[in-house]
Amino acid sequence: MTKTTISVIKADVGSVAGHLVAHPNLIDTCDEVLAKALEEGLLEDYYITRCGDDIDMIMTHRNGEENEEVHETAFNAFMKATEVARGLKLYGAGQDLLSDTFSGNIKGMGPGVAEMEFKERPSDPIIVYCCDKTEPGAFNLPLYRIFADPFNTAGLVIDPSLHDGFKFEVFDVMEHRKVIMNCPEESYDLLALLGSTGRYVIKRIFKKNGEIAASLSTERLNLMAGSYIGKDDPAAIVRAQSGFPSAGEVVEPFAFPHLVSGWMRGSHNGPLMPTSQEEANPIRFDGPPRVIGLGFQVADSKLIGPVDLFDDPAFDRTRQQAADIADYMRRHGPFEPHRLPSEEMEYTSLPGVLEKLESRFEKMD
Ligand code: F6R
Ligand code: MG
Ligand code: MG
Repeated sequence: MTKTTISVIKADVGSVAGHLVAHPNLIDTCDEVLAKALEEGLLEDYYITRCGDDIDMIMTHRNGEENEEVHETAFNAFMKATEVARGLKLYGAGQDLLSDTFSGNIKGMGPGVAEMEFKERPSDPIIVYCCDKTEPGAFNLPLYRIFADPFNTAGLVIDPSLHDGFKFEVFDVMEHRKVIMNCPEESYDLLALLGSTGRYVIKRIFKKNGEIAASLSTERLNLMAGSYIGKDDPAAIVRAQSGFPSAGEVVEPFAFPHLVSGWMRGSHNGPLMPTSQEEANPIRFDGPPRVIGLGFQVADSKLIGPVDLFDDPAFDRTRQQAADIADYMRRHGPFEPHRLPSEEMEYTSLPGVLEKLESRFEKMD
């Protein structure tokens, strides 16, 4: 039986009223490009959503990961949407496209990519998460909890099909290297890395038998471009049920609005607020950072759904708590730990300030 590939490719190519919300015409433009690819048989199905100013294209096909034609189709969709964004003078038109010529693989060209290929089970639920105003390391805490924390995932303890644990592939985005670690055996070592969310990020998670369980986008746009041109708002694909954590276990960690880096000017810590697609509008102080979750069944490479997972009153208290944390953090103004440490800020005036003061600095006694 042929395998199914899910490719989530996302980019911010322009938004309304600043870096707030992607314009519907951009989504319609992407839709036209993907509809054509569907008609031509390259794609089996697709669903387009947005989180804040980012457009996320969730595509299914049978061509495997890093397929040139699929990546080129996504690139063309974002290029066409950029033209529309320029026509409307949208804010940040084309901001995530580092080049206007496709070079064989969309990775490294600005957009974020999360992909996985698998043989479909008799019934195959998947969950796609899309964020705005944060970075890939925002997933470290929830993904660890889903696949390694028995206080989150009951199945790790009581379901024999999960009891062996999982393997985590971790990227060191600064040194460009990666390592695979076993859980629960190496959970303390794994946490020693994952706590540094700006440097070590989960790329993929596997069952011990090698089957793929989760895949994340880890592009660090700011590092790739050498200077700040936008936050690398991440996306993730997680498989659920029978041998994987259940859908409820996969959403459970998001009931805690943990602090993530991003928010205003990519330079602040703030709570990650889970919302419905409709409420994924990071407006207050350009935030607080958002995550949406969409649940699908994959059936013969078609996407059945989605269920808008955080469109649930059970997450109202999380949103309220996130709003309370946002108030608390905001009262710190320009002080850490609301403002990020200087080496992690995307915007800084510090070198200029130091230069100006250089001649006035005196030796302390
Ligand atoms: C954060 C983000 C926004 C912008 C901010 C300033 O990821 O996109 O918070 O950093 O609105 O934007 P510019 O410098 O374009 O005026
Ligand atoms: Mg933007
Ligand atoms: Mg964004």
